[in-house]
Amino acid sequence: MTSVRKAVFPAAGLGTRFLPATKAQPKEMLVLVDKPVIQYGVEEAAASGFDTIILVTGRGKNAIEDHFDISIELESFLEARGKTEQLAEIRKISRLINFAYVRQGEPLGLGHAVLVARDLVGQEPFAVVLGDDVIDADPPALRQLVSVFERVQGPVLAVERVPEEHVSSYGVVAVAESLGGGVYRVGDLVEKPKREEAPSNLAIIGRYILTPDVFPALAATRADRTGEIQLTNGLRQLLQQRPIYACEIEGVRHDTGNKLGFLKATVYFALRRPDLSEAFKDYLRSALER
Ligand code: UTP
Repeated sequence: MTSVRKAVFPAAGLGTRFLPATKAQPKEMLVLVDKPVIQYGVEEAAASGFDTIILVTGRGKNAIEDHFDISIELESFLEARGKTEQLAEIRKISRLINFAYVRQGEPLGLGHAVLVARDLVGQEPFAVVLGDDVIDADPPALRQLVSVFERVQGPVLAVERVPEEHVSSYGVVAVAESLGGGVYRVGDLVEKPKREEAPSNLAIIGRYILTPDVFPALAATRADRTGEIQLTNGLRQLLQQRPIYACEIEGVRHDTGNKLGFLKATVYFALRRPDLSEAFKDYLRSALER
């Protein structure tokens, strides 16, 4: 077990960029090769030593709860048919880690989604995982962040250098001090800056280790122009009271929350699957020639 046990997965957003696929299905359940996107993040948390996942859900998200629940009927069916491989896979999913659920009544922003997990988190450090960002890394991204947290004893945000033309899609950090090895003390945070106003190209990606003092900071954060409480703005409040750190993750990140990113992730993971890669490569070559 690690010094950080609980991971909050905000999953109450509406997924409008994926309509119509997300009209009656949560975007977290869209499938990359043969696993729903959210399962990649859950497996990362389990592999990083976490023991509890707090899922922040909303209307229309029941499929996520069912996916991680034990399905006695399905297990007995597979057992009776001698389908041992599938049975092992299904059992693994529901016994990976403990799940707790809390509803965000209205999608009032990522900061608000984190705030509704307050009682379930309690007075201990915790992670926030945005399942859209699927990260292939060894050690896993969350484990990398926890190692930095254990050293600096303060909130740690995962960051990635992005091309300047993309900074306006992210929260961006200004560096106060470089601590070496891709770890920085944060000087300021700006949510979705214009390209010419961005303090750096270090973009905050979907993994955070936070401390419980972020909750009062979020509660004191006003909604922005769009009516949402942004996590970045809450962290900015917190920065007035304590140092915050950022860490560049070593690994490959895919933003599956947009269509192109989703397609790239599908190709990336399919090419890494021993049972699919050869046939899939052949297909891609022929498709490109056509
Ligand atoms: P996004 O803005 O990327 O996701 O929020 P979205 O709102 O679901 O999708 P689009 O933009 O309409 O396509 C980042 C993360 O925060 C969660 C989302 O579920 C996603 O995991 N979120 C966002 C909440 O849980 N509640 C909110 O009010 C907003």
